[in-house]
Amino acid sequence: MSEKFKAMVISKQGDKFIREIKEKSVEELPEGDVLIKVHYSSLNFKDALSAIGNKGVTRNFPHTPGIDAAGIVQNSKDSTFKEGDEVLVTGFDLGMETDGGFGQFIRVPAEWVVKLPEGLSLRESMIFGTAGFTAGLSVFALAENNTTPEDGEVLVTGSTGGVGSMAIAILSQAGYDLVAVTGKKEKEDFLKELGAIRVISREEADDQSGKPMLKGVWGGAVDTVGGNILATAIKSTKYSGTVTTCGLTQSTEFTSSVFPFILRGVKLIGIDSVQLPMDRRLPVWDKLANEWKPDSLETLTNEIGLEEVSDNIDLILKGKLTGRTLINLWK
Ligand SMILES: NC(=O)c1ccc[n+]([C@@H]2O[C@H](COP(=O)([O-])OP(=O)(O)OC[C@H]3O[C@@H](n4cnc5c(N)ncnc54)[C@H](OP(=O)(O)O)[C@@H]3O)[C@@H](O)[C@H]2O)c1
Repeated sequence: MSEKFKAMVISKQGDKFIREIKEKSVEELPEGDVLIKVHYSSLNFKDALSAIGNKGVTRNFPHTPGIDAAGIVQNSKDSTFKEGDEVLVTGFDLGMETDGGFGQFIRVPAEWVVKLPEGLSLRESMIFGTAGFTAGLSVFALAENNTTPEDGEVLVTGSTGGVGSMAIAILSQAGYDLVAVTGKKEKEDFLKELGAIRVISREEADDQSGKPMLKGVWGGAVDTVGGNILATAIKSTKYSGTVTTCGLTQSTEFTSSVFPFILRGVKLIGIDSVQLPMDRRLPVWDKLANEWKPDSLETLTNEIGLEEVSDNIDLILKGKLTGRTLINLWK
């Protein structure tokens, strides 16, 4: 197949990383089992890091970012998939060193590919994308650790971001009362529309008292920012509550005493969406396709074409994007 297609290509020129939309051919794609025509991708913070040459994400250029892709199988060397199957790929090495979803075709190992679950369209699957899947994993961790809607309000941090906004929408759909933490007070109405019952400022969620424990007020917490906001959530969580940690936008480090864990039995659960084995992925996608699929999916979505990706990379790096940015590769 010598089909030509469009892709964003990042090239390194001296110390600079240049973004261009280029024509590529399918032969240039990496070896792999499954060739997929990508209909939709989405923009995540990690894609922006790849595009600016962050070595923790991508070291080899020229490169096409895009850690998410959903589309139709064109051909497959692995019998699990056949031409015409609707599939999605998130995480693993996609968009890191393997050319990703900011191109109209990808070729990947069969082990990375998920058959589109019944109840979800290709478009919806990429409104979720890695951010929504990570939010889904966080809600799954609360449920698995017996933190239920009856245990009280759940705190969500970084709430206007991709993971945070999806966590609000999913938790609300799953019946939880939740309180959103944001640095963007002007987005209060948006957060309430997604399902937050209250919105508090970052300062209110960032305790500076130095006390090892605070009054237990949260049934649980979905943290996406790390740092002292995570530490504050841990020491404000009620007996036996669950706190999840997936992100680092405030800081990679936090300080805690052992008291919330040994006096209140608080559970801190790490969330990884990248290397997670397939048998742990499928139940979460199934929940997202069915009872956890938010009614507000469109409210938090901004759809763009490939040509608009570069501007949106600049916005996400400045923390200025709200909700999810869906990329329609054929717009
Ligand atoms: N573990 C995993 O598998 C996994 C998967 C996906 C993402 N992540 C990580 O999760 C985090 C969130 O990802 P995302 O895609 O949602 O990013 P995003 O869309 O850029 O959102 C991050 C949000 O964090 C808040 N924020 C920004 N700077 C902050 C600061 N200095 N202090 C406190 N809050 C701050 C902002 O929300 P407000 O203005 O509303 O406060 C911002 O919208 C990132 O660190 C990302 O790398 C991890």
